[in-house]
Amino acid sequence: MNAWLADEAATIAFARNFLDTLPADLSGWTVLLKGELGAGKSTFARALIKAAGHDGPVPSPTYTLVEPYSLPRGNIYHIDLYRVSDEEELRYLGWTELDDGCRLVEWPDRAPGLAEQADLELCLEYEGSGRRARLEGLSERGLAFVSALASAYSED
Ligand SMILES: Nc1ncnc2c1ncn2[C@@H]1O[C@H](COP(=O)(O)OP(=O)(O)OP(=O)(O)O)[C@@H](O)[C@H]1O
Ligand SMILES: [Mg+2]
Repeated sequence: MNAWLADEAATIAFARNFLDTLPADLSGWTVLLKGELGAGKSTFARALIKAAGHDGPVPSPTYTLVEPYSLPRGNIYHIDLYRVSDEEELRYLGWTELDDGCRLVEWPDRAPGLAEQADLELCLEYEGSGRRARLEGLSERGLAFVSALASAYSED
C-alpha cells in the first residue's frame, strides 16, 4: 500500500493508525524503516512509541544503537543502525535479546539478512513538501497487516 503524508502531523497520525492495526501483544514484530536522511523514520518511530503509552522523550538511538521502552502492550526497541559499519558492531547489539519486543529498525540495510526476519518494511520518500509512505508485508502476518491498514488509507 502507499499513503500520502502531507506534513509531520500526517506522519504522526499514520504511526497511530499503524499501532492500532498491530495486535495487542506487540512482541516479535520487526518493522524496517527505510528512507533518506530526514525522511521521517524517527518521527514515525517516536509517534508510535508515544501512542503506545510512553510519556517522555524519545531520544535518537544513533549512538546507543537501541533505546528500549517497556510499555503496556509489550517492549518496543527503537533501533538505528546508521552508524553500524561491520558485523562486529552488530554483535554488540545482542539482537536475540530483543526478540521479546517489537523492533523498529532505522537503516536496516546495515544488517544483512534482517529482511528475512522482518514483518514489515516502511519506506518514506520525499515527495513535494510532504512524504510518500510505501508499506510492504514481508511475512504472512505482515501481508495481512498491510491489507488491514490499507482499508484506512485506500489510495493505491
Ligand atoms: N509527512 C511529512 N511531510 C513533511 N515533513 C515531515 C513529514 N514527516 C516528518 N517530517 C519532518 O521531516 C523531518 C524528519 O526527521 P526524522 O529525524 O524523523 O528523519 P529520519 O528519517 O529519522 O532521519 P535520519 O536518517 O537522520 O535518522 C522532521 O523535521 C519532521 O518534522
Ligand atoms: Mg532517524
